[in-house]
Amino acid sequence: MKTLQRTLTIVKPDAVKKNAIGDIIEQFEKNGFHILAMKMLEISQHQAEQFYAVHASRPFYHSLTKFMSSGPIVVLALEKENAIADLRTLMGSTNPANAEEGTIRKKWATNIEHNAIHGSDAEDTARYELSFFFAGYELTQ
Ligand code: CMP
Repeated sequence: MKTLQRTLTIVKPDAVKKNAIGDIIEQFEKNGFHILAMKMLEISQHQAEQFYAVHASRPFYHSLTKFMSSGPIVVLALEKENAIADLRTLMGSTNPANAEEGTIRKKWATNIEHNAIHGSDAEDTARYELSFFFAGYELTQ
């Protein structure tokens, strides 16, 4: 039986500034992801700290949350079979220096922090991250 999975992705402020939103969304659709919900917004540093709370002890936490609150982002709820792993493959390595040809980060990321896109890394984080940005009624069927 085929099981659909949901994941949360963010087009980060660096990619929005580069006018990469359309290109990145096209990659989602071309690769079989169904868009359940999408919105453009700005978050405060406090909200970014809550979203990335799992990284609170990391040396880059302050800089990362400052960056994520530095301008508009686009958040999307995506669905497909194996969505979490497939999105991570499509994104490429966190550090664009290691990102594979044809990946979103290879094309759009600037460096390990300004890396164009976020994607949930597991089912529990996907559930948390989806509920962080979307209420249940906002997700289309
Ligand atoms: P993301 O997939 O959103 O998950 C956590 C983010 O932290 C990551 O992408 C990068 O933007 C950032 N990050 C991870 N490792 C580092 C690092 N070594 N230095 C700076 N930023 C990092």
